[in-house]
Amino acid sequence: MKVAVGPDPSLVYRPDVDPEAAKDKGSFRNYTSGPLLDRVFATYKLMHTQQTVDFVRKKHTQFGGFSYKKMTVLEAVAMLDGLVDESDPDVDFPNSFHAFQTAEGIRKAHPDKDWFHLVGLLHDLGKVLVLAGEPQWAVVGDTFPVGCRPQASVVFCDSTFQDNPDLQDPRYSTEFGMYQPHCGLENVLMSWGHDEYMYQMMKFNKFSLPPEAFYMIRFHSFYPWHTGGDYRQLCSEQDLAMLPWVQEFNKFDLYTKCPGLPDVDELRPYYQGLIDKYCPGVLSW
Ligand SMILES: [Fe+2]
Ligand SMILES: [Fe+2]
Repeated sequence: MKVAVGPDPSLVYRPDVDPEAAKDKGSFRNYTSGPLLDRVFATYKLMHTQQTVDFVRKKHTQFGGFSYKKMTVLEAVAMLDGLVDESDPDVDFPNSFHAFQTAEGIRKAHPDKDWFHLVGLLHDLGKVLVLAGEPQWAVVGDTFPVGCRPQASVVFCDSTFQDNPDLQDPRYSTEFGMYQPHCGLENVLMSWGHDEYMYQMMKFNKFSLPPEAFYMIRFHSFYPWHTGGDYRQLCSEQDLAMLPWVQEFNKFDLYTKCPGLPDVDELRPYYQGLIDKYCPGVLSW
């Protein structure tokens, strides 16, 4: 069952490509052509108009108490079956499959790092916000710092920010805006979405994962930084040391989005073991 977010986008924008055909890696994240482009652009237009400093602070207050729902990790994974991500030009099948595919890709490449496998499973669980009634532009898609001028590699940068009130505000519209040079990303207010929510949720519930895991989840959608090479002037030494981990994670987030769907029933016991080790039981969302 899909959640109604306007007309069912998976029906309106059904890709006419053969879903079984293996994808060329260069064709992922193509924002200039493709059957899903209209819905992707519409999501970013809304996001880049309405994600402001004030909006992000309100969302931290609204969700920072984690009183939305009590559920286990695997219950959250199952919830994502009701969601198709409108901002993603590459996938048109439910996110729970993407969670297992990403995790399995990491497991094959890094068999010794069980915590990293779990990051694959967890990284998009913040998308449960859509199922809590939040609009997709406040949950999914690439992230960017609010409170300063967007940099060139932000997707649709030239055509989507003209109605954002922060860019008329002298406090928030210069290159550094409200930040100091090299203040560190921990001091930067990112646009609100599933990355930041999940990072805060993991801290709140005291997940016993290494710092790299928290970092990958918090910044996995910050494409203008980890892939575009922008926003280096806000980074600390620690951010630059963590960047290769985020980039390593990104490989699996991107290139495992193929429609060969994993056998979830077969995989569940392995991931239940990791959940029991790092983030057991009923959690606060
Ligand atoms: Fe994500
Ligand atoms: Fe993902």
